[in-house]
Amino acid sequence: MGKGKIVLAFSGGLDTSICIPLLREHYGFDEIITVAVDVGQPEAEVARATEKGRMLADNHYTIDVREKFVTDYVFPAIKANGSYEGYPMGTALARPLIAEEIVRIAEEEGASKIAHGCTGKGNDQLRFDFVFRSAGYEIVAPMREMNLTREWEICYAQEHNIPVSVGKKNPYSVDENCWSRSIEGGRLEDPAFHPPEEIYAWTVSPEKAPDVMEEVRIRFERGVPVALNGKSLPGLALIQELNQIAGQNGVGRNDMIEDRILGLKAREVYEHPAATVLLAAHRDLEHLVLTRQELVFKQIIDTKWSELAYMGLVHEPLFYALNAFIDTTQERVNGTVDLGLYKGSVKILGRSSGNALYSDDLVSFDSTTIDQNHAIGFSNYFGLQARLLRNLKKE
Ligand code: ARG
Repeated sequence: MGKGKIVLAFSGGLDTSICIPLLREHYGFDEIITVAVDVGQPEAEVARATEKGRMLADNHYTIDVREKFVTDYVFPAIKANGSYEGYPMGTALARPLIAEEIVRIAEEEGASKIAHGCTGKGNDQLRFDFVFRSAGYEIVAPMREMNLTREWEICYAQEHNIPVSVGKKNPYSVDENCWSRSIEGGRLEDPAFHPPEEIYAWTVSPEKAPDVMEEVRIRFERGVPVALNGKSLPGLALIQELNQIAGQNGVGRNDMIEDRILGLKAREVYEHPAATVLLAAHRDLEHLVLTRQELVFKQIIDTKWSELAYMGLVHEPLFYALNAFIDTTQERVNGTVDLGLYKGSVKILGRSSGNALYSDDLVSFDSTTIDQNHAIGFSNYFGLQARLLRNLKKE
């Protein structure tokens, strides 16, 4: 008597591919169902997953959730200025959605167990497990449980006629969705090693970018981008087009040491051209339309939001509460921001909004709307306690 059915989160890479025979032979499952979830990884990769899943598993699903990913995960991240240790999160945002889709298929298929190919060293195991356990599934994670080496995996794959693309030519581990591309592993594991140009796919090197600045205009409604250079676009198309434009100008590269949830420090390289531009524009627009009090408090909320999102704790009640606060503030984040992209840098050129809390009539050097004498009264009390203390010390 075998162990029945299991649903496997499937990318088509080496790890998840060898999971199929491992689940059969080593774990004793009778039926393996693979699910590839398309969040905007390269088309060839999705096609490879579909082909391999159909070839190796008993049943395979490929699910395109790119629009949902943008609307339900990337847009909230923009509203929250979502970034972790200084970079716009990408992988972290996609994992919960991928996990939800796997759960949906497991329900449809009547499977009681879910498998994934995450190792026991990274963040993704925790983000996946959180969703799978919340939904009541038992988890099988061969990579984590069996402590396998790359070499063993490659041999095992070859024995099972599984095509292997990892090797000398492709020594890195890449995770990609439409918001961000991350590269790790191989020689990058030496933090002192300078990344070679070949690891980048979305951005040109800033030195090789055009010598003239390229201008872009982003229009926001309720905190999310709705138009690029005057053209209204759905979220996914807007991000894809902006990735092209900003990537050509060398914008959005990041090489950093990151603190993983487990506490391990890891060397990570990222590309996120559109994210860099959109987050810069969004932050700037918030400064035009939100009050000082809102801005200061929202920074705390944004930091907490980002921490929970990084950990994949998207069903944590606090996360819902933070989103509710953020959504309230975003009702007024409408307007346009002009930016200049030049050899890897992004600068704000100008901004405007019908909700601007800005009055040139009040602030201008040339206006007399404000009677400046009124400021003298304000100034009399300004810093009063500190002044008193300073005088005490003098005596
Ligand atoms: N460090 C990032 C995160 O935890 C990205 C990890 C992506 N994985 C990869 N194989 N490149 O979200």
